[in-house]
Amino acid sequence: MPAQETLNPSATVPSFPVTERYRYLWVWLGDPTMADPSLIPDMHQLASTEWAGDGETIHAPCNYQLVLDNLMDLTHEEFVHSSSIGQEELSESEFEVTHDENSVTVSRWMHNIDAPPFWLKNMRDKFPGFEGKVDRWQIIHYYFPSTICIDVGVAEAGTGAPEGDRSRGVNGYVMNTITPETDRSCHYFWAFMRNYRLDSQLITTQLRNGVHGVFGEDEAMLQAQQAAIDANPDYEFYSLNIDAGGMWVRRMLERALEAEGRLTTAVPLSARA
Ligand SMILES: [Fe+2]
Repeated sequence: MPAQETLNPSATVPSFPVTERYRYLWVWLGDPTMADPSLIPDMHQLASTEWAGDGETIHAPCNYQLVLDNLMDLTHEEFVHSSSIGQEELSESEFEVTHDENSVTVSRWMHNIDAPPFWLKNMRDKFPGFEGKVDRWQIIHYYFPSTICIDVGVAEAGTGAPEGDRSRGVNGYVMNTITPETDRSCHYFWAFMRNYRLDSQLITTQLRNGVHGVFGEDEAMLQAQQAAIDANPDYEFYSLNIDAGGMWVRRMLERALEAEGRLTTAVPLSARA
């Protein structure tokens, strides 16, 4: 209103601290004096020249904590993603959980197994005609409050991948960050990054489409899970051994929500079995 000499003080919109990093805009909705860009989780693969990939955003019909639970326990792949990345060795193998103040790591190695279809295709993209057994890994990195980056891949069995030599394998990073919208919906940003055949747009598109299909299976399951929780509001969650990683995530969130004086959510936060 260039002709206006005085502005009505109510004619303003709120503003928020924003940082652009890793191809995302990180918006701080809380007390602006508390905004600290150093708290942004490490998602450097999204912006690195050593990685290539693409992703999508899912408007997920569930509480964001259900997405975190799902990503912290990848044995669900055996049942929910049986045609692509699932295999029975997932729930047969041992896993290890570590944590510090703001992060949780769940590591699983499966030795000398057949590669499931998704991973066999990726191996053959890098090593045409590949046949034989693989060592497979899933290393889940949770960063408070709501980011999970999963180091995944397979390598020709016995070529030293568990000891750190992944040269005979293919490596991806599943980048997930989730923003709550309501008690029963969230914005789920994901990307799949790889560190081989970086120049192939065909592989980028195939991987994005492949993961799109896999995550569509998760979405249907998460929606059903939210509906079951809503239909049975008095049921408690029971934690099984496999939830060790997810329990640390819930504890960290619970502590932070308590500190903010808002311990209300559509999902029972924890059940201490
Ligand atoms: Fe899944």
